[in-house]
Formats: sequence, structure tokens, C-alpha cells
Amino acid sequence: MASLPAETIDRLLAAALTARARAYAPYSGYCVGAAVLDENGHIHAGCNMENAAYPEGCCAEANALGAMVLAGGRKVAAALVAGAGEAQPITPCGGCRQKLREFATEETLVLAADPHSVRAQWTLGELLPASFEPAHLT
Ligand code: THU
Repeated sequence: MASLPAETIDRLLAAALTARARAYAPYSGYCVGAAVLDENGHIHAGCNMENAAYPEGCCAEANALGAMVLAGGRKVAAALVAGAGEAQPITPCGGCRQKLREFATEETLVLAADPHSVRAQWTLGELLPASFEPAHLT
């Protein structure tokens, strides 16, 4: 399988863990950080942000993507999500897989990390096969 340069992984992991430290997760207690690498080599991070009206909470990936769009990025070259889980590493939720698909291809690498290191790697196509994508609307 394709792989990212170690330096890129280190940058993504550091950004996601820094974001995770800012997570607002008073209800679940499950803190998540995410980082996306854009087409210009810039990294954008986000954390989860819960709400007393539970469904209004936002995932870390969604907030990282919002930061990317605000900064002018339009393509996700790679993504990393970090959360607790020694026994069972985090994996992006279904909604976030679709949100990533808007800006990424089926070949885009998605990494999952615990608070210390990367634990798993997939392509977005593996996480979201037969996905609905922007090209469906053209
Ligand atoms: N969460 C994320 O931020 N990203 C995911 O992909 C999985 C779940 C958050 C949402 C909620 O704040 C907490 O983790 C527990 O579900």
C-alpha cells in the first residue's frame, strides 16, 4: 500500500494531538483531534466540539475540514484522526468519511492514531466504498 513520508506523518500526528488537547467533550469524555494535509502542503487541525443538545456536536474531522476551507485549501492529500483506544484504535465515523470524500479521492490515505502513535491506515475508498462524490452532480 502507498505510504506517506515519515515527516508528513509526524506533522499530521503532532497537529492532531495538539488539537485533541483542546477538545470540548464534556458529555462523552472522548477527546478527538484531526489533521488534514491540503494540496499546498499546509496542515489544518480540528477537535471535537460537543453540545448540551447532543446531536449538535461536531466531530474533529469536520472542524479540521472547515479550517482547511477557510484557509483556502480545497483538496485533502492525507488525513489523520487521533483518539484514545489502546484496545480498539479510533476510526472515522461514517459522516466524517463522507465529509472527507468531498475533498479527497478514493486513494487518499486516512491514518488513525492513539495518543502516542499511528495505529492504522486505510485508503478512503476502503473506509467508504462506492461513495457518492461531487462528480455525481456534474
Ligand atoms: N468523534 C469524532 O470527533 N470523530 C470521529 O470520527 C468519531 C467520533 C467524536 C464525536 C463525539 O464528540 C465523541 O467523539 C464521541 O462520539
